[in-house]
Amino acid sequence: MNTASTTTHPTQTQVCIIGGGPSGLLLSQLLHLKGIDSVVLERQSRAYVLARIRAGVLEQGFAKLMREAQCGERMDREGHVHEGFFIAHDGKMSRIDLHKHADGKTVVVYGQTEVTRDLYEARDRLKGVVIHNAENVQPHRLKSEAPAGSAEARPYVTYEHEGQTHRLDCDYVVGADGYHGVSRKSIPSDVLREYEKVYPFGWLGVLSRTPPVSPELIYAKHERGFALCSMRSPMLSRYYIQVPLTDSVENWSDEAFWEELKRRLPPEVAAQLVTGPSIEKSIAPLRSFVVEPMRYGNLFLAGDAAHIVPPTGARGLNTAGSDIHYLYEGLVQHYLHGDDTGLDQYSANALARVWKTQRFSWMLTTLLHNFPDNAAYDQKLQQVELDYLFSSEKAQAALAENYTGLPY
Ligand code: APR
Ligand code: PHB
Repeated sequence: MNTASTTTHPTQTQVCIIGGGPSGLLLSQLLHLKGIDSVVLERQSRAYVLARIRAGVLEQGFAKLMREAQCGERMDREGHVHEGFFIAHDGKMSRIDLHKHADGKTVVVYGQTEVTRDLYEARDRLKGVVIHNAENVQPHRLKSEAPAGSAEARPYVTYEHEGQTHRLDCDYVVGADGYHGVSRKSIPSDVLREYEKVYPFGWLGVLSRTPPVSPELIYAKHERGFALCSMRSPMLSRYYIQVPLTDSVENWSDEAFWEELKRRLPPEVAAQLVTGPSIEKSIAPLRSFVVEPMRYGNLFLAGDAAHIVPPTGARGLNTAGSDIHYLYEGLVQHYLHGDDTGLDQYSANALARVWKTQRFSWMLTTLLHNFPDNAAYDQKLQQVELDYLFSSEKAQAALAENYTGLPY
């Protein structure tokens, strides 16, 4: 017997957002508070989305957006403000003083899973429409020759839910569906310009219910490979080590992971490391990726749908945040003031900052990882880059400026 679905399926909205990750949810929440209607179509269940483990270093700009979206209360209560981080190299610890070098700016360490949870709870509070398990989502009529303002000029999105096909007519489609989403692929290949760099290694990450080894993050450059010591809370730690692309999680027992991590940390830090069973263990490849333009007709790409960075600089979520800032501003200008300047300039404005975060992520990845196939000259340059960084307050200020977040 078919039980009637409890999900409501609007047939009309102003903005259809494909993707219920942080980008899509944040935009939907911000628009709602301005009286702009949106529907979020998410392929997975909410539980699946919330099970993802991802970086959690928030720029002040992202934190400000969360507060503007009325989602910042738990972040402000449970997030940890960090005024600096360490780079471990040559057996010693050197601190980058963000507060000193970035005009008092800091970052908030607060897991992306918690950001996403807060956004879902906010959408529920406002009775926002987020449709989960939306399958075969397809955007249509992203560009139309019909007269502007006519019904035929408007895009629409079709999807399947519990065996039924639905159509949602809208003014705009936002592709916030991540790297593997459908939106970017809906732009004709002769329009898109793709830029990609794949790194010859991945990160093996472990989550453990143990106290963090350090109150601030430690990025370790070591001849055996890069390592990172991070955290989620006073009793939840996140660690990573660089591994070859050919490696697999099955090769790494918890004990093997902890021993390798200790080898890559200065002895006094390794001696402090509290180990424990991994509650999550996975390998992620590293890539840099950008697609241009980030607009095609009535489709706007945002977040991972348009760009990917290696996690070294913790810029993934933060760059999604600046996309959402520009798109939100543009849509508010359109709907509240009849001004399309922001939408017309969205792709150029978003990409200008995207490329700067690409540069920073690439620079930090190149600085701190092992590239065994690099020529001796390049290996030497890598060491000289580190020596220069710690001999120049101006170089440290440039790093701090990027790490705390370039202006929107
Ligand atoms: N239809 C509907 N939803 C889709 C589709 C599709 N065809 N394809 C993907 N999705 C959903 C995914 O299930 C996911 O929940 O879109 C969402 C995209 O979310 P993210 O991949 O988290 O991307 P984004 O919201 O831009 O967040 C960027 O997430 O991956 C990290 O490092 C990245 O921190 C950054 C942040
Ligand atoms: C994390 O906590 O997962 C994390 C922190 C900083 C990074 C990358 C990942 O640069």
